[in-house]
Amino acid sequence: MNQPSTPQGHPEALYVLFFTEMWERFSYYGMRAILTLYMIAPVSEKYGGGMGLSEKEAGPIYGLYTASVYLLTLPGGWLADNIFGQKKAIWFGGIIIMLGHIILAFPAGNMVFFIGLAIVAIGTGLLKPNISSIVGELYPEGGARRDAGFSIFYMGINVGGALGMLTVGYLGEKIEWHVGFGAAAAGMFLGLVGFKLMEEKYLKPYGLLKTKEIEKDKVADSKSNNMALMMIGILISLLLVLQFTNVIDVTTAQGLAQAMGVIIVSITTFYFVYILIAGKLSAVERTRMYVMAIFFVAIAIFWAGYEQGGSTLNIFAERNTNRFIFGWEMPASWLQGMQSVYVILFAPIVGAIWLYLSKRNSNPSAPIKFGMGLIILSFGFLLMYFASQYIVIGEKASFMWLIITYLFTVLGELCISPVGLSFYTKLAPARFVSQLVGIWFVGAALGNLIAGMFASNFDKDNVAQMPSLFMLVVVVSLISGLLMILLYKPIKKWMGGVE
Ligand code: PHE
Repeated sequence: MNQPSTPQGHPEALYVLFFTEMWERFSYYGMRAILTLYMIAPVSEKYGGGMGLSEKEAGPIYGLYTASVYLLTLPGGWLADNIFGQKKAIWFGGIIIMLGHIILAFPAGNMVFFIGLAIVAIGTGLLKPNISSIVGELYPEGGARRDAGFSIFYMGINVGGALGMLTVGYLGEKIEWHVGFGAAAAGMFLGLVGFKLMEEKYLKPYGLLKTKEIEKDKVADSKSNNMALMMIGILISLLLVLQFTNVIDVTTAQGLAQAMGVIIVSITTFYFVYILIAGKLSAVERTRMYVMAIFFVAIAIFWAGYEQGGSTLNIFAERNTNRFIFGWEMPASWLQGMQSVYVILFAPIVGAIWLYLSKRNSNPSAPIKFGMGLIILSFGFLLMYFASQYIVIGEKASFMWLIITYLFTVLGELCISPVGLSFYTKLAPARFVSQLVGIWFVGAALGNLIAGMFASNFDKDNVAQMPSLFMLVVVVSLISGLLMILLYKPIKKWMGGVE
């Protein structure tokens, strides 16, 4: 395959993917930046008000939406592998995302709005996992060049995220919510145009449907299809029991979010147990599965804190933060954009530190990095614990609190997220790699869900509890981080030589 390469030695295809994902993330993070704010903004007589929902509704809806986005990457990946091929999945996914944002841009009532959200989530499920897997396909030899390719791609994600949050945030908050949603649609449109224009030239051999492998896997597939059907049956019965014993109430946003939590935890547990029992694993593959299960819990806890950028911290920025600079009040969503800005600034530095340390043979092992990530996250929320003391006494906090909190969350992210994904691909038995990468996304789904559900406690009339809420995040992430570090020896042993 003699495809054009850039001078740095990366295939030009990488930049097509970079550009498309950049615009997709522009639309995703841009819309997400104003989603919670729009939902809790009061309804006004004239065109331009928000939805007037309470935090109890808006938080779980945010959680349901963001969790669905990542959960739907499972069917999205399956559809690409079995029916469309990755490239077509990206194209259709992008179109669906754009249509979803166009629907959001019309002020047509709550029901239509929720349908728009669902459509964006379906499209993202198709696009997001498959664009990353083509990045992997560009480097069949693996190694450092592949890692570098993924780092460049991760930059695209965050350049899109930063521009999206700044643009959509500004338009949505300062001009009109629906202008913001429209800008998200326009961003995805630009991504699609670029993709179509460059696809023929640069992506020709990539992301195609691999029919031969599918034939080979048919037998194995029918067995796992039966298991999946059984699982769905058990899940539906479990949810019905929970509903009729009044444990959860799926007619409310909160109940739906709880049901989603039950679904995510069941799918994951079932998956791990199934592979352990029926996966014909060797002894070392088995202990590596334990490590992946531990990493799953850790990443879910991490995202549960981190992704509050769009929920509780966003609400905090809007209601409780003094956002004036030189007499001008910046949009609340801009503060959240700092997460992406920090990734752009610090990812190369953190990457260089790992490289430097590994040259000296002292690169910390994965469980240590996970532990560090969680502990650094807890420091960030400790700052919020202090910042929220101002709110309790009726004042506003300086925006610097959020600016520094976000720095901690991102330094944590850089310890945990790229490392975790790469270890998932290395620890997984070769035949289960793509499924386990899917499980990695499920970890993100669970974290996002919790981050949203947590916001239902951020009641305007009950700010006295705010410090203890933030303290809860501090304690949970600190304890789990310390546990990772304390247990690093057995975890490392279980990794069976994977470095
Ligand atoms: N910023 C990352 C992204 O949008 C967050 C993420 C990591 C999402 C892993 C899903 C899975 O890609």
